[in-house]
Amino acid sequence: MSDLETKIISPVPGSYNLANYQETKASFTWEDTAQELSFHKTGKLNAAYETVDRHVDEGYGDKIALHYVNDDEHRTLTFKEVKDKTDHYARILLNNGVTKGDRVFIFLPKTPECYISILAVIKIGAIAGPLFEAFMEDAVKDRINDCQGTVLITDNELVKRVPKKDIPSLETILFTEEIEATPYDSSRQEDLVEWVDEDDGLIIHYTSGSTGKPKGVLHAHRAVTHHYQSGKWVLDIKEEDVYWCTSHPGWVTGSVYGLFAPWLNRATIVIQGGRFSAEKWYQLIEDLKVTTWYSAPTAFRMLMSQGDLYKSYDLSSIRHVLSVGEPLNPEVINWAWNKLGFRIHDTWWMTETGGHLIVNLPTEPIKPGSMGRPFPGIEVGILDAEGNELPHGSVGQLAIRAPWPGLMKEIWGNKDKFDSYFQYEGWYISGDLAVQDQEGYVFFQGRDDDMINSAGERIGPFEVESKLIEHPAVVEAAVVGKPDPIRGELVKAFITLGNNYPETKELLEEIRIFVRKNLSAHAAPREIEVVKELPKTKISGKILRRKLKQAEIEKSEKLHV
Ligand code: PRX
Repeated sequence: MSDLETKIISPVPGSYNLANYQETKASFTWEDTAQELSFHKTGKLNAAYETVDRHVDEGYGDKIALHYVNDDEHRTLTFKEVKDKTDHYARILLNNGVTKGDRVFIFLPKTPECYISILAVIKIGAIAGPLFEAFMEDAVKDRINDCQGTVLITDNELVKRVPKKDIPSLETILFTEEIEATPYDSSRQEDLVEWVDEDDGLIIHYTSGSTGKPKGVLHAHRAVTHHYQSGKWVLDIKEEDVYWCTSHPGWVTGSVYGLFAPWLNRATIVIQGGRFSAEKWYQLIEDLKVTTWYSAPTAFRMLMSQGDLYKSYDLSSIRHVLSVGEPLNPEVINWAWNKLGFRIHDTWWMTETGGHLIVNLPTEPIKPGSMGRPFPGIEVGILDAEGNELPHGSVGQLAIRAPWPGLMKEIWGNKDKFDSYFQYEGWYISGDLAVQDQEGYVFFQGRDDDMINSAGERIGPFEVESKLIEHPAVVEAAVVGKPDPIRGELVKAFITLGNNYPETKELLEEIRIFVRKNLSAHAAPREIEVVKELPKTKISGKILRRKLKQAEIEKSEKLHV
């Protein structure tokens, strides 16, 4: 660690929402935050009201809430327009019999209607289940079935990937095209808000672990306290900001920091449709004068690989940049600092944690290679295998003193899984390995399990393996993350083939497409290697993914010597 410590990047002078980290840390409590939101008055709240309607009530109805950009399309909506549209969607949900606590899924591309649907569901007290737009049939089916979703909001295109007959709980499918075509009289001003308790369900995000199918991580309305405060201090959002989070709301970053946190802080957000393109991204920053930008290391690495392209764009509007989801290499931080002229502030958290826990604040020095320091009110522990705290400088399990407002409420229908995060009294165990230095900076050291992180997206090997062995040619499969310079890791599958299936390039491509078509593009193996047999434990015969992964790491290290 010592050589890293010499390369500290100092804060850029400026006025930031959180001026003094040490002082704030010493005195902050989450109750202070609740005082700034409306619910402390009544004890009841509604996250959709706090996020959008409140601003209309407080006189900010005409402020631009969002810019939507997709190729040549550019739309803007004010907070009042977002509120009215949310009411319209909420009214239709109510007319379709949706009641408090029902699970309503949203399967839409990154459009304003996706954000509005999520808020409409929440407004009437139901639980929003946003799905990533690239999911294919099985991924959609497994998630809705797991928590018995009754209603789905989608569009004419994505509905083709909804296997309705395999989802018995699904009673109603609503199409945004039809909702948009239905007249709505916004002058009616109905009060559609269902006031709920802090602990009532808000949003369910499915996420992968190393075993089993994806799990439904359920968050409660109280999480808005965390979203609001971290939006204010970590994203450093001010009202005049144009804020762009590149993640889809089907992922937790896209909902918490793409929707809740910026709007709770009354920023104008940018919603960009379409796929990654370095030219389009730089152009968008220039055109909309983006001030605050939250993305992921893979995207930054892709931009970095475009060399001098950034010189053709005016990026001078940018004042604050953040990263999340996977390790942010020091090279990328140094590239942004030396060439683009801004610091990238790494942040660490997880779907389960519901908000930032380890962060780089704009007022604090950055140590490239570190994820930052604990957010005020958050205590980090590095634990050994027995749950004892280790001294600074030792690698151990990254744990957080529980609870905090954003922490998940439950794993849907799986108490054992939920309890497994809390096996040491008082601690939440992340499954990551880390080391903390004397000054509190935390350095990521890898996962403690077989979870794969490719381009910042969490991929459970089990889900991919299960799909692979459904292909008639595949007998057994093991899926691991192989080191990759751009994506961090890429999904690599080791398979054994049935006797009647000779290994050909075409067959391997067919298998890859099989996973892509049924599960999703991001989880499909980029590489497939046929082996005679897979390494297994002697006693239980369990496949040793770790051995395969270690071999991949060693191969890639050799390449880089
Ligand atoms: O391994 C850590 C990695 O992503 C995991 C959480 O993934 P997910 O629930 O999909 O949430 C992603 C964004 C909230 C963590 O257990 N991870 C997240 N942030 C970082 C990270 N790894 C290294 N550096 C980070 N900043």
